Amino acid sequence: MNQSNKQNPINQCRVLVTATSFGKGTPEMKSFLENSVGEVIYNTKGRPLQSAELVPLMKDIDGFIAGLDDVNESVIQAGNRLRVIARYGVGVDRVDLEAATRHKIIVTNTPGANSVAVAELTLGFILGLARNLCNANETTRAGEWQRFNGVGLRGKVVGLVGLGAIGREVELRLRGFNCRILASDPNVTAEQASQYGVELVSLDQLLAQSDFISLHSPVLDSTKGMVNREFLKSIKAGAYLINTARGELIDEDALVEALQSGQLRGAALDCFCKEPPPADHPLLKFSQVIVTPHSGSHTDDAVDQMGWMAMQECLAVLQNQPPRFIVNPQVYQDEPPQ
Ligand code: DGY
Repeated sequence: MNQSNKQNPINQCRVLVTATSFGKGTPEMKSFLENSVGEVIYNTKGRPLQSAELVPLMKDIDGFIAGLDDVNESVIQAGNRLRVIARYGVGVDRVDLEAATRHKIIVTNTPGANSVAVAELTLGFILGLARNLCNANETTRAGEWQRFNGVGLRGKVVGLVGLGAIGREVELRLRGFNCRILASDPNVTAEQASQYGVELVSLDQLLAQSDFISLHSPVLDSTKGMVNREFLKSIKAGAYLINTARGELIDEDALVEALQSGQLRGAALDCFCKEPPPADHPLLKFSQVIVTPHSGSHTDDAVDQMGWMAMQECLAVLQNQPPRFIVNPQVYQDEPPQ
């Protein structure tokens, strides 16, 4: 907590919920939260909030169920009573973890809640690119009868950059297509990969051999901007790129060049460096690029699981219980949970 104020009992706590799909399709989720605490404040903008928009909302907030908002140090500092940031999702790259830890604010997330949803969107992207679905849809609606020649997946090589929970769900779903599946992940051993039915290779080998390259890495210092000119020069000419992870993994200028030159045959992007991207963003102009509004997690099941999990984590902390999925256990270094 930011200040040494006395902690509010749970029924007097104020909780801010900015995740825009929280309780969508499950009204009892919102009533459960509203009946558990003193007051719930919702994001009315229908999109993730910038830090400047969050700062004025943070005063006297005890718990924060955060979507893909920009939770930087100014937001954390403005939370004079803040005790928990419960990320509604897995990625914590938009939360200043270091500042949260310094201010003794617990950060939690919802591992596994959306892995299947993101994997399913990835499969949709692979098939959509392979069969030109978006262009076929547009031209048919426009009265044309243009038949696009697609590529078949049988015998193609799919390279998964990152073999965590989502990468593994993608691999499981690809099995029926008779593809060869490669993965590169510094945290996975060759033995583990072969148990998952995947060949573990170096990133260079993966890029040189894959027809479809799908990103499933978190944003870290080592992965930020990893899809740069050098990466794109190393890919098999005419490959496709899929990104359902984070926009920051990609140097977007380099991606534009690779699409212009044909080095990349197409791309499918659920996320961008700046979200939403400006209307004149060059990546929005390519017919061979499929774009969606960071909605990999937006299925009925995933939204339900992320909501209940994030809410339980938030309520646990507000009741002085240890949360299940703490991201910054260092906050307990001096004061272990009771
Ligand atoms: C995640 O899990 O981080 C997704 O991007 C949705 O929040």
